[in-house]
Amino acid sequence: MTHKTIPVQHEHAHDHEHEGGRLCMSRRQFLLSGGSAVALISLGVFPGTTEAAQALKATYPRQKIASLSGLKTGVPVEFNYPYEDIRNILVKLGVPAGGGAGREQDIVAFNQQCTHQGGPLDGTFKPQHQVLGPCPLHLTTFDLTRHGMVASGHATESLPQIVLEIQGDDIYAVGVMGLVYGYSAMTSKRSA
Ligand code: FES
Repeated sequence: MTHKTIPVQHEHAHDHEHEGGRLCMSRRQFLLSGGSAVALISLGVFPGTTEAAQALKATYPRQKIASLSGLKTGVPVEFNYPYEDIRNILVKLGVPAGGGAGREQDIVAFNQQCTHQGGPLDGTFKPQHQVLGPCPLHLTTFDLTRHGMVASGHATESLPQIVLEIQGDDIYAVGVMGLVYGYSAMTSKRSA
């Protein structure tokens, strides 16, 4: 099967190793360099969280994932993006969040695979605390109001956040901040 390896920008080319003709990046390198298109974006809702306020995002083809009029506060909607095997949730938290879309900046989307060892976070959203988790494997919980930062548990990396855009009543996924568990780069196949 053909890998959909994302080309990286020239200035970061020395950070990457070629392997069998495709570029491979470590998670850190990916986070620093981004994907097919790299943009420095400012998402800070909470002053002082430097990493959260400045994040690099990788863009992918825009995909409609839900309608504003169909969203209910605290009720997540599942969707796959940017590939079929990547499961995410979209949720209107009811409180402002880092990277939140919409008039109240409270609509966010995150990947549902734990960044520690890939545990499934499906069905673990807690609307009263705006968290995803605890992970069934080692109990990590992620704070969805702060870019998916680890609130407690074994994981050390935030959940990948899906970048959203709203146009009229339509909510689109347009990119990913972070690297989904199991990917050495955001290819169409998992690396392990
Ligand atoms: S896999 Fe989720 S905490 Fe270990």
